[in-house]
Amino acid sequence: MQMPSRSSLTVVLAAGEGTRMRSKLPKVLHQVAGQSLLAHVLRAAPAGRGTSLAVVIGPDHAAVADEARRNRSEAQTFIQRERLGTAHAVLAARDAIAKGADDLLVVFGDTPLISAATFERLRAPLKNGAALAVLGFRAADPSGYGRLLMEGKRLIAIREQADASEEESKVTLCNAGVMALDGRKALELLDGIDNANSKGEYYLPDAVGISRNMGWEAVVVETSEDEVRGINTKAQLAEAESVMQARLRKQALDAGVTLIAPETVYLAADTKFGSDVTIEPFVVIGPGVSIADGAVIHSFSHIVQSSIGKNASIGPFARFRPGTSIGEGARVGNFVEMKATTLEAGAKVNHLSYIGDTEVGARTNIGAGTITCNYDGFSKHKTTIGEDAFVGSNSSLVAPVKIGNGAYIGSGSVITKDVPGDAMSVERSQQMIREGGAVRYREIRTKNKKQKDH
Ligand code: UD1
Ligand code: MG
Repeated sequence: MQMPSRSSLTVVLAAGEGTRMRSKLPKVLHQVAGQSLLAHVLRAAPAGRGTSLAVVIGPDHAAVADEARRNRSEAQTFIQRERLGTAHAVLAARDAIAKGADDLLVVFGDTPLISAATFERLRAPLKNGAALAVLGFRAADPSGYGRLLMEGKRLIAIREQADASEEESKVTLCNAGVMALDGRKALELLDGIDNANSKGEYYLPDAVGISRNMGWEAVVVETSEDEVRGINTKAQLAEAESVMQARLRKQALDAGVTLIAPETVYLAADTKFGSDVTIEPFVVIGPGVSIADGAVIHSFSHIVQSSIGKNASIGPFARFRPGTSIGEGARVGNFVEMKATTLEAGAKVNHLSYIGDTEVGARTNIGAGTITCNYDGFSKHKTTIGEDAFVGSNSSLVAPVKIGNGAYIGSGSVITKDVPGDAMSVERSQQMIREGGAVRYREIRTKNKKQKDH
């Protein structure tokens, strides 16, 4: 029988400056696998019917509020004006908590490796009547963490490092910082927390002792240290990146992607793969990339915000900047940079080119060294190239410019005016006439056309 599902409110604490990152960027906006720390946490937090979300941010952190809404449009943000501790931070979202969801989840914005499954595991004891469940882990080095003090299977208190006795400091079972509270008891617990400790802060972990005093049950749910790594420094950011990359590579392999040397491939948290995709060694994939069935990404390619069609072949040494879209069976070879460009099915750009703000029609061939001159020093302009066209090597296409279907641009041309369909560029036709080749080209085209018509 399906139990009616419990409603939840997740409060994400993200008011910290992150001084130890030594950066102007608020801590939770630093990235792991192409997404902010905050985005990772928001992605793992319960979503859908019966869930709500509150993010507690520092004053002057409008960028954090924007990032929250970009990832979860329903997120409410609350400002904590003074940093008086984690319990004080949670209470910044009092209005949301007072609505009384069944489960109140509290998570830190700087623990990007937490999974959705762990949130669910942590909620389970609340169903069975516990007032509070704390996520714990066995720390290799517990220094700095709150220690979980147990009596058998019962959690009796959490002691912060600064307040711990020598005996308590030896405990290695630590507070990960994620907590689930019975939504109807939460305010009573939170309002009971004082700041009588060595730092003079309102500690969220004190909710455990209070719960015990009320005669309510508090429990621990354990997880691995890797999942709850908190990011305070750039070194920890790099460690989290490596844990996340290992996960993403495994997910890709499990999904059938061929990674010849997985440890050399960098993926983003949102990379999408079709079936039978192959990625050669030393490829970097940034955010917003999808790679369709059968595509091959050759070594040393760098791809961001782009979509790659079925059976396309990319690289080695291709660079795709945002807005690149590669059609089925298209080929992009070495030392080709593309940006805001669509390459339709079967088109080829095999060597040494810059193609930006451009549409390239199906089956068109762009010769080596072709440059779309999209920037005139003031603004960007578009290049449109039709189907079955041929752009000879070392041509410059000075945008805005249109090249029609089946047009032929001779090598070394500088195209500043539109070239109509099935035409040869003036430069090339003059040259071909000098060489006696124009007629031959026309013959070839006519022949090809006839074959197609059959
Ligand atoms: C906290 C826990 C500790 C736990 C550890 C796990 C407390 C008192 N201690 O310690 O038991 O083992 O995390 O990493 O909770 N924040 C605010 N406003 C504040 C204070 C903090 O938003 O006034 C935010 C921070 O930005 C951060 C999170 O809360 O995201 C935790 O604060 P932090 O100072 O890192 O706590 P720790 O000392 O690491
Ligand atoms: Mg911390």
